[in-house]
Amino acid sequence: MTAAAHSAPHDVKDLGLSAAGRRRTEWAERSMPVLRQIRERFAAERPLAGRRLSACLHVTTETANLAVTLKAGGADVALCASNPLSTQDDVAAHLVKDHGLKVFAIKGEDHDTYYDHLRAALAHRPDITMDDGADLVGALHMIALNRLDDLAPPVRRWVERLSAGERQQLVSGVIGSTEETTTGVIRLKAMARDGVLQFPVVAVNDSDTKHLFDNRYGTGQSTLDGILRATNLLIAGSTVVVAGYGWCGRGFALRARGAGANVIVTEIDPLKALEAQMDGYRVLPMAEAAKVGDVFVTLTGNVHVIRLEHMRAMKEGAIIANSGHFNVEIDLDGLQRAGEGPVPVRDFVDGWRLDGKQLYVLADGRLVNLAAAEGHPASVMDMSFANQALAAEYVARHGRELGRAVHRIPRELDQEIARLKLQAMGVGIDALTPEQQKYLASWDLGT
Ligand SMILES: NC(=O)c1ccc[n+]([C@@H]2O[C@H](COP(=O)([O-])OP(=O)(O)OC[C@H]3O[C@@H](n4cnc5c(N)ncnc54)[C@H](O)[C@@H]3O)[C@@H](O)[C@H]2O)c1
Repeated sequence: MTAAAHSAPHDVKDLGLSAAGRRRTEWAERSMPVLRQIRERFAAERPLAGRRLSACLHVTTETANLAVTLKAGGADVALCASNPLSTQDDVAAHLVKDHGLKVFAIKGEDHDTYYDHLRAALAHRPDITMDDGADLVGALHMIALNRLDDLAPPVRRWVERLSAGERQQLVSGVIGSTEETTTGVIRLKAMARDGVLQFPVVAVNDSDTKHLFDNRYGTGQSTLDGILRATNLLIAGSTVVVAGYGWCGRGFALRARGAGANVIVTEIDPLKALEAQMDGYRVLPMAEAAKVGDVFVTLTGNVHVIRLEHMRAMKEGAIIANSGHFNVEIDLDGLQRAGEGPVPVRDFVDGWRLDGKQLYVLADGRLVNLAAAEGHPASVMDMSFANQALAAEYVARHGRELGRAVHRIPRELDQEIARLKLQAMGVGIDALTPEQQKYLASWDLGT
């Protein structure tokens, strides 16, 4: 942890990197026309005026454009990283230096620094929180439920110094939250089901203009990008095993096949497995796929999808990566116990010896697209972050009326984002004629 973390309203690697961060953020902005339009409206209407907003997101050029949009809307923004490896240090510096945002994020930060940065975002005393993986909301709930032992030490030590009233105020001060990713939404829905959710949450991931595009095309492309940058592997002719055929898995399988791989899918859901089979992939249980794969990628949101027994069955030189939210999909503890390593081979590639074989793990099993590449392209994040900005506005305007549940962004806003994106892409579509409208609304016409 750097000395600045406790005193200054930011903790970034090097403010001297800000010019590069600004140039790259402006480059991303060119591909974010929908968010830009929202920013212009926010600057005029100031829907977030007077709001303190804490965001825990991957600190990338696209997030920088979102953060600046939220500020244009009047919010006082604090930002920490949602993953210790995904921060772009130049972008963090740019947001502090050129926009005066309170940014707490350093690429490669250790466990304690990661959580001290989360603490700093909580100490901002937000009335709106924005999460990618429910870390802020999770901590707020451990405070609300007085489960301080479940907090990471840097957060726990800080909370222990707060009075009961201050703790209560920290939680009750939150009007509502927004959540970016599948894994976060699953957890929040579990909290709502158990009756412990303390405030409303808008599930940005559930918008069609988010998961249909970001999870599929964004993760698809950037996961392949991360693997290529880390390994410089020739994908053509290799066998790539894709664990999980949800939105992310579908997108990655499509791109791997496009690059010439023989793609095998593993699933636990019969419908998804059937879909993969009919999309032309080979579907196998992991125990079988383990024997033939050259590259393995988990995209499930589940725990220990690749276990020691699978790694033992893998071929010499197999490469294992994860693009699901948390670094729990590959059983690295098991590998640590049974194997020897890690031995650094290249950036984001570690060698392990197991049963006399060599295996390679990318990016410590963390999101390979964000650790070894730059995350999703700006054009797709344009829609995800348009959803985030509109969700923050929705929480600011309606949070107190919404129940303590997980909500979707209203359908009209989702449709409006798609309309604006098409417009920006110069793509026209047809409108229903009055005759068609009447036909679709009736049950007796034209039968
Ligand atoms: N890398 C990124 O930038 C990025 C972007 C968006 C989402 N995500 C994360 O990726 C993960 C997947 O998201 P999604 O939107 O595709 O979710 P999803 O729910 O659409 O798909 C997950 C799939 O994994 C399958 N699955 C679960 N356990 C499995 C197992 N043991 N073996 C094989 N398949 C299994 C499920 O049946 C489901 O089809 C989540 O953790 C999400 O948060 C990552």
